[in-house]
Amino acid sequence: MENQFAKDIIKGLKSRPKFLPSKYFYDKKGSEIFIEIMKMPEYYLTACEMEIFQKQSSKIIDAFKIEKGEKIEVIELGAGDGYKTIELLKELDKKHSFVYKPIDISIGALEQLEINVREKLPDLSIELIRGDFFQKLHELQQDNTKKIVLFLGSTLGNMEDEIATNFLVEIQKNLNKKDLLLIGLDLIKEERIVLPAYHDSQGITSSFNLNLLQRINRELHADFNLAKFQHEPEYSEKTGKAKSFLKSLEKQKIHFKDLDISIDFEKNERIFMEISRKYNDEILKNLLQKTTFQIKQKFLDSKQYFADYLLEVE
Ligand code: AVJ
Repeated sequence: MENQFAKDIIKGLKSRPKFLPSKYFYDKKGSEIFIEIMKMPEYYLTACEMEIFQKQSSKIIDAFKIEKGEKIEVIELGAGDGYKTIELLKELDKKHSFVYKPIDISIGALEQLEINVREKLPDLSIELIRGDFFQKLHELQQDNTKKIVLFLGSTLGNMEDEIATNFLVEIQKNLNKKDLLLIGLDLIKEERIVLPAYHDSQGITSSFNLNLLQRINRELHADFNLAKFQHEPEYSEKTGKAKSFLKSLEKQKIHFKDLDISIDFEKNERIFMEISRKYNDEILKNLLQKTTFQIKQKFLDSKQYFADYLLEVE
């Protein structure tokens, strides 16, 4: 199997319990659905981080401690359509000149981001990088330009803790002393707030998950019947982990025509689709143990649901 997508999908579906990598949610349709998710009343994450940037951008930028005339580069991992980031960039642009390098896996999102940036900040120098940010990290040039890495929206939450630690180590290794990472993390809170963000009344999150089955049907010529799978999210305030599953409503067999593979499902067997981890200071400190990042400052929204932490390489 030459194609990485096919390999990853089959590997996940042959595992026990079955899983699918959530990074594959973001095809054209998936990226569009995610934009709908960010507008849902239940999905407080985006609104909270937006509020932080609208009200505290100037404070955040002061905390960057950029010297006059210093060369800077702003690299954003998983930039998406840049809707929130532009709030921060607008403020940064008032005081400093910089290059903005957004990395994203979705072409559609990057195109939209370019349109948004051009409209709000026509003179900004921007270099779009398309790809998996895990892989693109190594390509970032190693020079003396001060780097400010943005990793917003609690995207880290899609990684299990061990992978998240390794990822933070990788980021730090690609940075110099005094470089910065601004990381947006959703905070642990009650189930009555968190669970509806992944179980909305309009079924948008359900279609976000089911869309990956549709993508698999299209790209790998499989025959998933979407009506035979049900979106099932769960959250534990104790662990801080929200998880999404698709549950097979009956015993069934899925065929992958081109690959000549079939996958069996028991009734009620679930595919683990996504983890959306929630954090607190202690969890973050543990994740940073193998790095030289120090927590410099923490910016909270008024409800204290979400935090942007400023980390500096020591
Ligand atoms: C983009 C990873 C932050 O986990 O909250 C939203 C993705 N999944 N609804 C999240 C998502 C279902 C989102 N992140």
